[in-house]
Amino acid sequence: MRFPALSLIFRLVLLAALALPLAVPNTAQAGHGDKAPGKTGILLVAFGTSVPEATRAIDAIKKQAEDAFPGIPVRLAYSSKIIRDKIAGQGVAKSSPAQALADMAAEGFTQVAVQSLHTIPGSEYSDITATAEAFQAMPKGIKKVSVGRPLLYSFGDIALAAEAVLKSLPARKKGEAVLLMGHGTAHPANAAYAALQLALWKHDKGVFIATVEDTPGLDEVIPELKRQGVRKVFLVPLMSVAGDHAMNDMAGPEDDSWASRLKAAGIKGEPVLVGLGSRPAVAALWIEHLRDAVKELGR
Ligand code: CO
Repeated sequence: MRFPALSLIFRLVLLAALALPLAVPNTAQAGHGDKAPGKTGILLVAFGTSVPEATRAIDAIKKQAEDAFPGIPVRLAYSSKIIRDKIAGQGVAKSSPAQALADMAAEGFTQVAVQSLHTIPGSEYSDITATAEAFQAMPKGIKKVSVGRPLLYSFGDIALAAEAVLKSLPARKKGEAVLLMGHGTAHPANAAYAALQLALWKHDKGVFIATVEDTPGLDEVIPELKRQGVRKVFLVPLMSVAGDHAMNDMAGPEDDSWASRLKAAGIKGEPVLVGLGSRPAVAALWIEHLRDAVKELGR
């Protein structure tokens, strides 16, 4: 080689050039301009629950998020004001999404991935996207707020959700079926339940969906169960938690509960009080949606 010494010097200069920015202390960048180091956070938004034991399902999703994103602080908010007010009376304080984002802005978070823990992209979800947009537009606030989609968003999401739900259902004998209890809403996103029903039937004709508040109602499903000779159904909440709807509207002793109405129709209802958040394969889908939201922050 003709210039070994030069080559060595060249390499040293190159090394020094590469190492220099690393040697500059971080605080040197934290001046007035836009170059302050970024701080990333995650905000999970559940509808919320007034049933203390039901919070386990939300805690399980939060734990999965913390494990999936070590080093990123994970916060939790409840989107339902009714639930927040109700549990405040029991001495439990939970933030709204807006309050949680305001706190995070005050603590210096510059980018936040907000993950909806809702089942369908209904009004709770559109409220979250509106709140996120408002915070992103606020001067001197959080620079970027991304929103992770709920469980049943695209057809792809719905297909994966069907497979994940089927993984953890109870084993059935002849004459037994599963009836999933969705919430239901007047919002057009209610159609997601029908789409999930089709995706479930691709794999398993013995799994049915009805909703508490909208269509399909229980009365639409009971004739189909009878036609198929179903004598017993496992009642399973299609909600992140097995909360008030699951314990009362689904499994409660009142005449108008699903268990009672099914019994009146000659079908035994066996409640399974486990929320979707406590089903790891389903919780993992919310975490995948969160992964997309974190990626969108451009970290
Ligand atoms: Co409700």
